[in-house]
Amino acid sequence: MSKVLKILTLPTESLRQKSEVVDEKRIGKKEFEQLNADLVETMLKKEGIGLAAPQIGKNIRLIVVNTKKGPILLFNPKIIQKSWQKEWGEEGCLSVPLVFGEVHRHKKITCVFCNRAGAKDKIKASGLLARVIQHEIDHLDGILFIDKAKNLKKLDEETNEI
Ligand code: CO
Repeated sequence: MSKVLKILTLPTESLRQKSEVVDEKRIGKKEFEQLNADLVETMLKKEGIGLAAPQIGKNIRLIVVNTKKGPILLFNPKIIQKSWQKEWGEEGCLSVPLVFGEVHRHKKITCVFCNRAGAKDKIKASGLLARVIQHEIDHLDGILFIDKAKNLKKLDEETNEI
């Protein structure tokens, strides 16, 4: 059974750590089944469009992103191509509740990774999905969107307004 995990929020120090590469021989084995299921479940239940393992207290290079075809897990994701063109777009983060801001991201990216079955895989993404992948990979390096954002705003906890 998958469960919804607790999401770490600032000022938790481990969110600022660089996460470890996952040994690719171990991916696709039983030891990751529960974590994979829990990460997907947590992202969906918290209505995120992406989640990185360090956000639930595991400092390993693993992210999940939601796509039109459903959630995808990316182990050891690495951006190998990025468009020269960048665009601004609003972001938030489950680890930085109620804060939003605009971040400048590459419009298109190509990302290589190891999929949940343990095989090498590749994804080309543009627009929102490209943004989400860049945001989640930043988490693996201890970088949060607030480090890069402009026009940061914090919503009121009770009214959810500025
Ligand atoms: Co985030």
